[in-house]
Amino acid sequence: MHNGLDEDPLALFRRWYEDAEAGSAAPEAAALATATPDGRPSVRMVLVKRVDERGFAYHTNLESRKGGELAANPRAALLFHWRELGRQVRIEGAVERVSEAEADEYFRTRPRESRLAAWASPQSRPVADRAELDGLYRQAEARFAGGDVPLPPHWGGFRVVPDVYEFWQHGENRLHDRVRYGRDGNGWRRERLAP
Ligand SMILES: Cc1cc2nc3c(=O)[nH]c(=O)nc-3n(C[C@H](O)[C@H](O)[C@H](O)COP(=O)(O)O)c2cc1C
Repeated sequence: MHNGLDEDPLALFRRWYEDAEAGSAAPEAAALATATPDGRPSVRMVLVKRVDERGFAYHTNLESRKGGELAANPRAALLFHWRELGRQVRIEGAVERVSEAEADEYFRTRPRESRLAAWASPQSRPVADRAELDGLYRQAEARFAGGDVPLPPHWGGFRVVPDVYEFWQHGENRLHDRVRYGRDGNGWRRERLAP
């Protein structure tokens, strides 16, 4: 990372992501942190399915805990950790909903069983037991028997629009490299941080 630092953090992210695709078990898995408006944080894993100039998109139940927190406080942080490469990338920013068309396009790439589960599961709500969940799944199966399983109204995508990136590369003697990019007008300000 001493050389090869990009002006544009997205370009650097893409290069690191390519390395992760080649050398990491779960390149697209990231921890997503959200918070309530009074500042109580929560974190969970998501799969980041699309990365482009607009930001980092993932999909979920809009009525889930994270969905509720983002509706009330539309900011989030993402953390990718590629252990095999000794790298992490932190991303922070505002969050927006992806368009319904884009959510639909992604939803249709999911296996039928996953689409049925999206209909069946009241994500983040208590359920009595496994049997209740299995029953909800069977209801969804019956509802769409033999037909298309469309995008549920309670399901969609969010996009984290980065205003901060931090790239961390494991180094010798704990002298890791940390480089932070902060949005600065139309460009980015880059600074090195002590490890
Ligand atoms: C590797 C991994 C990837 C996951 N990807 C997603 C995802 O893309 N979308 C999602 O809604 N939940 C995903 N989950 C489940 C979430 O971590 C979480 O349990 C769920 O979204 C409910 O979170 P919430 O109650 O905070 O809203 C994933 C879990 C793991 C372990």
